[in-house]
Amino acid sequence: MSFLYKSDPARGAVWARHFAERAPEVPFHIWPDVGDPAQVRYLAVWTMPAGLVETLPNLEVLFCVGAGIDQLDLSKVPDSIPVVRMVEPGLVAGMVEYATLAVLALHRDWPAYAAQQRERKWQALRVARAQERRVGVMGLGVMGQAVLEKLHGFGFPCAGWSRAARRLDGIECHAGEDALPAFLGRTDILVNLLPLTAETRGILSRGLFEALPRGAAVVNVGRGGHVVAGDLIAALDAGHLSAAILDVTDPEPLPPEHPFWIHPRIVVTPHIASETQPETSASVVIDNIRRHQRGAPLVGLVDRQRGY
Ligand code: GLV
Repeated sequence: MSFLYKSDPARGAVWARHFAERAPEVPFHIWPDVGDPAQVRYLAVWTMPAGLVETLPNLEVLFCVGAGIDQLDLSKVPDSIPVVRMVEPGLVAGMVEYATLAVLALHRDWPAYAAQQRERKWQALRVARAQERRVGVMGLGVMGQAVLEKLHGFGFPCAGWSRAARRLDGIECHAGEDALPAFLGRTDILVNLLPLTAETRGILSRGLFEALPRGAAVVNVGRGGHVVAGDLIAALDAGHLSAAILDVTDPEPLPPEHPFWIHPRIVVTPHIASETQPETSASVVIDNIRRHQRGAPLVGLVDRQRGY
């Protein structure tokens, strides 16, 4: 029995150490050192090299090193093999930091002050209270919930929207397509943390932007494929949206000629909002292997029909 890792090698080295210490019975290989392919029971990847799965006849679990799995081509992965996405505290903590940074930057008019500085303009804008700024998070998985909990602590009126109904303390929860207009109509700063699926692709489009109040701002920390780029630019240029902070784009890297780079009201970061932390994720994966071995439910198991 062995574990094959194919992703960032620095993280792989940390995982190898954890496996040696805590799961020595599972030999750990870092791609392209596959070892004996027939021994590979566990595979961890960010993206999958074409043809790899077909060479692993005894694969039992496919782990994704990231929270989202849309970048994985699962067409060659038999339905009998569970696919597990990353649910780990380090990744959640990073996302809470970035979302908080983005929401506070928008709340405190940081993009406007950056523009004023370029013009050497010393001018105070009115400081709004957190209680006046309604924050809404789309996607209420582990990350969305943690983000809302933190933002709620600042005093922002917080709401969440998800496909299936949720209940969260102190958060106004909306569920399903019918509830989307009401959720958007009360949202001044929208944070997208949805998984990218056939249903959510292009969800950040003209109709959605129009349903937000005038002057609203958008933070995208989901996937670039959630955004219809032309619609976002049009909504910003029309003054309906005030700003957008985008950590993800389609494609990535964002090509030099893409209009997002130079738009005065867009801030782009290169998909760094959060990343799977080597130490905390190693523990989660080893724990999941133990669960698999004793037939317990896996943490982060993907519903392949649902797409996340
Ligand atoms: C990063 O985008 C991830 O899915 O973990």
